[in-house]
Amino acid sequence: MSPSPLTFEVEQSTTPKADAEREQILANPGFGKTFTDHMVLATWMPDQGWHDGRVTAYGPIQLMPSAAVLHYAQEIFEGLKAYRHEDGSIWSFRPEANAQRMIRSAHRLALPELPEDDFIESIRQLVTVDQAWVPPAGTGETSLYLRPFMFASEAFLGVREAHEVTYSVIASPAGAYFAGGVKPVNLWLATEFARAGDGGTGAAKCGGNYASSLAAQQQGAAHDCQQVVFLDSSTHTYIEELGGMNLFFVYKDGRVVTPALTGSILEGVTRSSILELSKEMGLAPEERRIEIAEWKDGVASGEITEVFACGTAAVVTPVGELRWDGGSTPAPASTETTMAIRERLLDVQYGRVADTHGWMTRLV
Ligand code: COI
Repeated sequence: MSPSPLTFEVEQSTTPKADAEREQILANPGFGKTFTDHMVLATWMPDQGWHDGRVTAYGPIQLMPSAAVLHYAQEIFEGLKAYRHEDGSIWSFRPEANAQRMIRSAHRLALPELPEDDFIESIRQLVTVDQAWVPPAGTGETSLYLRPFMFASEAFLGVREAHEVTYSVIASPAGAYFAGGVKPVNLWLATEFARAGDGGTGAAKCGGNYASSLAAQQQGAAHDCQQVVFLDSSTHTYIEELGGMNLFFVYKDGRVVTPALTGSILEGVTRSSILELSKEMGLAPEERRIEIAEWKDGVASGEITEVFACGTAAVVTPVGELRWDGGSTPAPASTETTMAIRERLLDVQYGRVADTHGWMTRLV
């Protein structure tokens, strides 16, 4: 049960960053390095539902060493952004899609549902209090990255769903996800490790999926690759996704192909938006299984002209070489369609074109 709607009491931070320091951070935010003055917290218990919602000073969360999340990784999260438009207003992009995905993730990880309205209200409250942290309009792709997350905070070592759960939202001013900005990233092909398997948690946004990607990510970094491509765990043949992004292939005949959702791939909000936008751009989007051989052969023959990664954090990022133990494909010839899709998406998010899909929600 949940006394709906969840309300959020605001406790102002007594130690907010000075204006000058905040402006210095906003001028060059990078990704995920600095955090705003406040955060959201709420608690769930079986008999009380969601309660004790508040916006409070950003700071450490106290947990017992026995908190279940630290042992059994019962945790899920989301990622979305707040964008400042030219008139100063602040908007988010398809927050209801993130809310619904968090509900699906909660089901998979045996966590309680946070209703869509409470999810959207929680980000609206945080962004309202920390609105000075949303970078000004017209500064490239800067935004305020919002990270809602939920975890098993109950102090209990028995393996069962937690009877005390914490929900939080933190916010971090963000520029380009990759340190080099928007330029092609090289990808490492994981042949030894899979990210997720049939019946596993691949379609849920849970911390464990990201933890399981890190050993391959380390191998990739040793080969000067910024991300890793994971294949399906049963046949090691079909392309799934990167550790934290979906993949698209642009063909010379205008097809824009992405791996079909098989249950072990995360359904990206950016991914599904690109499927719609590319159709409107006269391209032919397609969701299907794609063999790794098709990538290698397609780039070599010129059938595949571009490859790109996408996600909330990465937006749309061109892919360069694919590397693996003992070989590599060259970088695709072009980034033209990739950059056009990227611009189209950013134009919607920053309110530079009409929001014909009803994707934008005003926060402030
Ligand atoms: C996002 O794009 O929001 C993610 O959660 C992925 C992570 C690599 C930052």
